[in-house]
Amino acid sequence: MPATPTGPTTDDERPARVTGPVPCRIVVCRDCCCGTPKVTGVDHADQTERLRAAAPVRVSDCLDVCEHANVIVVQPSAEGRAAGARPVWLGLVNDPDATEDIVAWIRTGGPGVAPRPDILDLYAITPSRRRTAS
Ligand code: FES
Repeated sequence: MPATPTGPTTDDERPARVTGPVPCRIVVCRDCCCGTPKVTGVDHADQTERLRAAAPVRVSDCLDVCEHANVIVVQPSAEGRAAGARPVWLGLVNDPDATEDIVAWIRTGGPGVAPRPDILDLYAITPSRRRTAS
């Protein structure tokens, strides 16, 4: 779908903004546990870059579920939200194959658009009540 230009909101000379479909977004937790040597055997920087190749990434402070480090939250696209999808929290994402499964899912549309691969059910967690990452 082509981007839809929107006109300026005032009569000044600012250029029109261009907007388009809102993609999935990813929250990558990196704080006291996620992304640290406490989680061994993970190239944390590479994991973040692999995810960034699939969707915009925001690095977050602790999401209060450290027992599940590394925690990744996949936020649905606008299309996914319109279909009723909510952010999907994934924990113990500590191997490259799991990261690639997340990347593949997002590239096919992510929450609300493409079915979550069964393997990712193993990583699904319930967020802390104090955090939503949405
Ligand atoms: S550092 Fe990620 S949940 Fe605490």
